[in-house]
Amino acid sequence: MSSDRHRYAITGRRPLSGAVEVAGAKNAVTKLLVATLLTEDPCTISGVPKIAEVGIVLGMLADLGTGIEWVDDRTVRLTTRHIATASLSEAYSGVNRIPILMMGPLLHRAGETTIPLPGGCRIGKRPIDFHLAGLRAMGAQITEQPRSVSVKVAADGLRAAHITLPYPSVGATENLLLSAVLARGTTIIDNAAVEPEIMDLILMLQQMGALVSVEVDRRIVIEGVPRLRGASHRPLPDRIEVASFAAAAVATGGRIEVIGAVQEHVATFLNYLRKVGGEFEVTSRGLAFYQARELTPVPVQTDVHPGYMTDWQQPLVVLLTQASGASVIHETVYENRFGYAEQLNAMGAGIALSTACLGGKACRFALRDFQHSAVVIGPTPLRAGPLEIPDLRAGFAYIMAALIADGTSVITGTRYLERGYEDPAGKLRSVGAAIETIPV
Ligand code: EPZ
Repeated sequence: MSSDRHRYAITGRRPLSGAVEVAGAKNAVTKLLVATLLTEDPCTISGVPKIAEVGIVLGMLADLGTGIEWVDDRTVRLTTRHIATASLSEAYSGVNRIPILMMGPLLHRAGETTIPLPGGCRIGKRPIDFHLAGLRAMGAQITEQPRSVSVKVAADGLRAAHITLPYPSVGATENLLLSAVLARGTTIIDNAAVEPEIMDLILMLQQMGALVSVEVDRRIVIEGVPRLRGASHRPLPDRIEVASFAAAAVATGGRIEVIGAVQEHVATFLNYLRKVGGEFEVTSRGLAFYQARELTPVPVQTDVHPGYMTDWQQPLVVLLTQASGASVIHETVYENRFGYAEQLNAMGAGIALSTACLGGKACRFALRDFQHSAVVIGPTPLRAGPLEIPDLRAGFAYIMAALIADGTSVITGTRYLERGYEDPAGKLRSVGAAIETIPV
């Protein structure tokens, strides 16, 4: 991972007011870029967010032989007439989870590939066993190396399979979709993830000529077709960025209109925001968020869609440090997603972690010694402090903590934040945050 371009110095206790425009969803656009590998025709993606993650994925595609042409500053046209090399450098190992999604498209185009492994990260081990088991069921022969995985397929290509995922994994569902659209026969994915970002990928694949149907009870059926064509697509708006700014508006006692936000994408989040004391309005341009009353605690359990998403957990926890009483948060998607709480406690928060499944039903992490539940006691005034961002979503939680704290907090590790949030400092400044970027 590269180093920080700058630190942020944030002086807190100012209500944020104004409007920001939501960017295209990071977790959709990166998959749409991979989908372009499935055709020799040009594909155009518009509404591309200006985030570091997009640059990384475009670099990977360029290495594989994709022609990349910017039509304007948010629209990119990608053409992969030929695969120049079907393997990606091990230097990408541990960088992100996108190369593993390229396995299916590269098998269709070249019959074999070697792909760098994503590695674990600070929020959990994040294995890829579901991905590999699914591809094996489709006829791929897989050899695992310490930092990469080599995959090949017989001359007649991938074949359809009936795959039941052990858990509705977003990445594994996307991987199997990208593999099955050009496979021989009809693939069934049971216990599939159905996040809006997956629906967005399906819409692009449908435009390209794929036959995908989303059925009841988490079943996705993919009838393989022999060829896909080019398409033009705009990713859905980033529902994590929407929730992040919503939580910041409520936590600071201000009002932020998020231009381009769509109520349907954040409906579950809105219920919890309201239970805590926040409110929203549908405006002509998007959604506006503000604090409606004194903040009160809630029990929350993160889950796969349509549940309360794990990437909305961190801004909510910071908000709950300002609610009067005890809130319980049970994280059921990742085993290790509360590591950021320690630095919040150093600022004055009262967050206690537990290995028990608190406030909900037993999850996959029951009796497994992971600190995956938190009790937040509030309200606690926060003091400014030095903050080192450990991962992308914890990064926004620290920004929020600094925005409500007394004094000036200096935040490092901003590279993690800028991987997935578009111009966070600029957007926050535009709604009145006292945020200074200090080059390093
Ligand atoms: C995607 O990760 C997102 N990343 C994550 O966003 C998001 O938190 C997550 O989905 C859940 O919504 C991208 O889209 C790039 P999963 P993904 O496979 O696909 C376990 C962010 O900050 N699992 O649904 O990797 C896994 O360990 C992030 O933007 C296996 O055990 O998530 C986890 O506990 C972080 N074996 C659970 O499933 C597997 O083979 C859910 O993971 C695959 C997953």
